[in-house]
Amino acid sequence: MSVHKDVKKVTTHVLQEMKNRGEKISMLTGYDYSMARIIDASGIDVILVGDSASNVMAGHETTLPITLDQMIYHASSVVRAVERALVVVDMPFGSYQGNSKEALSNAIRIMKETGGHAVKMEGGEEIIDSIKRILTAGIPVMGHLGLTPQSIYKFGTYVVRAKEEEEASRLIHDAKLLEDAGCFAIVLEKIPAKLAEQVAKEVKIPIIGIGAGNGVDGQVLVVHDMLGINNEFKPRFLRKYNNLYEQMHNSFQQYISDVKSGDFPNQNEQY
Ligand code: KIV
Repeated sequence: MSVHKDVKKVTTHVLQEMKNRGEKISMLTGYDYSMARIIDASGIDVILVGDSASNVMAGHETTLPITLDQMIYHASSVVRAVERALVVVDMPFGSYQGNSKEALSNAIRIMKETGGHAVKMEGGEEIIDSIKRILTAGIPVMGHLGLTPQSIYKFGTYVVRAKEEEEASRLIHDAKLLEDAGCFAIVLEKIPAKLAEQVAKEVKIPIIGIGAGNGVDGQVLVVHDMLGINNEFKPRFLRKYNNLYEQMHNSFQQYISDVKSGDFPNQNEQY
């Protein structure tokens, strides 16, 4: 019997059950009501209101500029659309790194004002106090290790992380720390597939990969990338399921042409 097919509402416990049974977890980002409705109706397990909204919705180069208020706006739009999926909301840069009290009050704002089900935070040992304090309030936390885009100015580039032994061991240490603290899942971004598989075997909580190979418990992609809306982003890990840039471009051109020629609206399209 499939856990995925039977549940009416996905919870953190359902995700753990899926890992225990070897059932893969599907996750996509979502930022607005209309898209989230379609994603949820398709049967996705988790919708991540990612701070990648900073890139794909607002056109910023990095995820750093997006604010807590903006994340709350996106997340509340998504929550209004969703009936089944677990909705996880990214805590934006600057909302949890300073001190754990501030982190908790920001996480509480997210939970109260969006109706989301969990928060996600980037980092390991360096943010463990914030993670622990948020967990004490009963707010589920998803971790995020490997390439953590909020630290892009420290890394300097978006290349694969943890290829060297030292960084790989630190990542394994951090994953165990997050598990011991009580995180319900961890995203591993852009790390070698073998390392991701090792982490997924060594920790009991679900590991969701992006650019981390197939040996993990689930996958996440940015919805604009997998739909081909963003036609310039072509990393090796991205599978494109559509070419919406081209399809939308063609539709817009056809509409412009119909308006200019007077073809639209016709007799049946007016009152
Ligand atoms: O913000 C985001 O979209 C993310 C995913 C890439 C995991 O954190």
